[in-house]
Amino acid sequence: MKWMDLKMTVNESTKKFFANRRSVSVKWLKGPGPREEEIAEIIKSALRVPDHGKLEPWRAVLISEESKNKFLTIVENRAQQLSIDPGKLKKNRENLLSCPLIITIICSPKRSEKIPEIEQILSAGALCLNVLNNFLASGWGGNWLTGWMAHDRKFGEQAFNLSADEFVAGYIYVGSYDQTLTERPRPAVADKVSWF
Ligand SMILES: Cc1cc2nc3c(=O)[nH]c(=O)nc-3n(C[C@H](O)[C@H](O)[C@H](O)COP(=O)(O)O)c2cc1C
Repeated sequence: MKWMDLKMTVNESTKKFFANRRSVSVKWLKGPGPREEEIAEIIKSALRVPDHGKLEPWRAVLISEESKNKFLTIVENRAQQLSIDPGKLKKNRENLLSCPLIITIICSPKRSEKIPEIEQILSAGALCLNVLNNFLASGWGGNWLTGWMAHDRKFGEQAFNLSADEFVAGYIYVGSYDQTLTERPRPAVADKVSWF
């Protein structure tokens, strides 16, 4: 398909998706999740993300039903070392167990004379949203979460073998859901935007 053809197919449903997209509360996400081929297809599309200098300063680690228990063991051990509040840990555990797919987006900045690290971090953030939006657009529920499992360095090293420069940008929880989504307050354009 040529770009001109593609442009003509940018249609009302695409605009409607972006005008109405919203995350799904993690407590509502459940199985079944997407199959492996669909995950690969959605992530391929999500990897089309702005990336100054083509440094690809990110990577993703998928936590599936099969690998969840291994991940949970690392979570429980590290939570104990950190004295994570039992209520918080219970919530972490419930979310991880009920959600069929968790996509860990890792920011992996590259040493570059030309491209500042902040731009690489922004690209990783853009990837988080692109992954989330691509799953939402395909009809799945999803939510971008962080918390101590994203911020604790040692946990990241144990779970994802993070190098010294890397960090977890976010976990995109993905699953099915039944609930009708209600709107949350959104900013008024006039409050956020001005003309120069
Ligand atoms: C970087 C980042 C981290 C977040 N971490 C959490 C989190 O740990 N827990 C939480 O409840 N929400 C967290 N959120 C907010 C959720 O993603 C929230 O559901 C989202 O703001 C819904 O917005 P949307 O409906 O426009 O997608 C985070 C958002 C961002 C951008």
